[in-house]
Amino acid sequence: MYTLIDGKATAAQIKAEIREEVEKMVASGQRRPHLAAILVGHDGGSETYVHNKVLACEACGFTSTLIRYEDNITEAELLQKIDELNHDDDIDGFIVQLPLPKHINEQTVTEAIHPGKDVDGFHPTNVGRMAIGLPCFISATPLGILTLLQRYGIATSGKKCVILGRSNIVGKPMAQLMMQKQYGDSTVTVCHSRSANLKEECRQADILIAAIGRPGFVTADMVKEGATVIDVGTTRVPDASRKSGFRLSGDVCFQEVAPKCAAITPVPGGVGPMTICMLMLNTLKAGQGCE
Ligand code: GUN
Repeated sequence: MYTLIDGKATAAQIKAEIREEVEKMVASGQRRPHLAAILVGHDGGSETYVHNKVLACEACGFTSTLIRYEDNITEAELLQKIDELNHDDDIDGFIVQLPLPKHINEQTVTEAIHPGKDVDGFHPTNVGRMAIGLPCFISATPLGILTLLQRYGIATSGKKCVILGRSNIVGKPMAQLMMQKQYGDSTVTVCHSRSANLKEECRQADILIAAIGRPGFVTADMVKEGATVIDVGTTRVPDASRKSGFRLSGDVCFQEVAPKCAAITPVPGGVGPMTICMLMLNTLKAGQGCE
């Protein structure tokens, strides 16, 4: 029987730990960590994410500020606000929810955020520092996956880890972290849409991390007996039986893959809930003056 890696429960536990830490800070005369989020426009997914981030701040005992703009805001206006937040001593960290409207350059915006307040860990300074093992803000999804592996006692040192996907926010940082001695200490292979022998590569994996955004892509024939499978996929697929009209689908065909695994994350309730929780952990660190 496999272990179901419960991201929802782990995230709840970590948020309770953060809250405890915050109450200690407050008791010793420090102020609560303060996260600001900038939301541009009315994208349904982004509205939900930002709403959940505000709720998570409340659960952790943080102060939060939501700054909203219509999608006709100019890039210059947005950059002006970022500059203001960079210099606001009351704000420990802030995020600009992505995606942004097409007329705004996301890279310009990301690079405008002060690295010391970049709790998303998207600024090239944080990405670069992470790659060479220096203290930094690590982006939330890879940090959440590392944390799940650690908290479930899944051995990674010397193991073979295969990552499906090479995105800037998951695949690439995940590979960096899994290879580093101080984090995963694994032997890492990154596969993507052009990889030859992708199935064979996956079958070698002790730890398989799927982050390609293709529902049900990982089937039982791609998984080694006793592997740990981490499913990062969260594709919205239409589902008329749901009030929302959709359900979340992972990259892994759970029903057939799970029986072969030592441990596996479900979708939903696996990696997803850990992501916001790690943003909270980064905000706590920012509030404590470290990064
Ligand atoms: N859009 C989707 N995921 C994220 C995230 O982690 N941070 C931000 N800022 N935008 C996102």
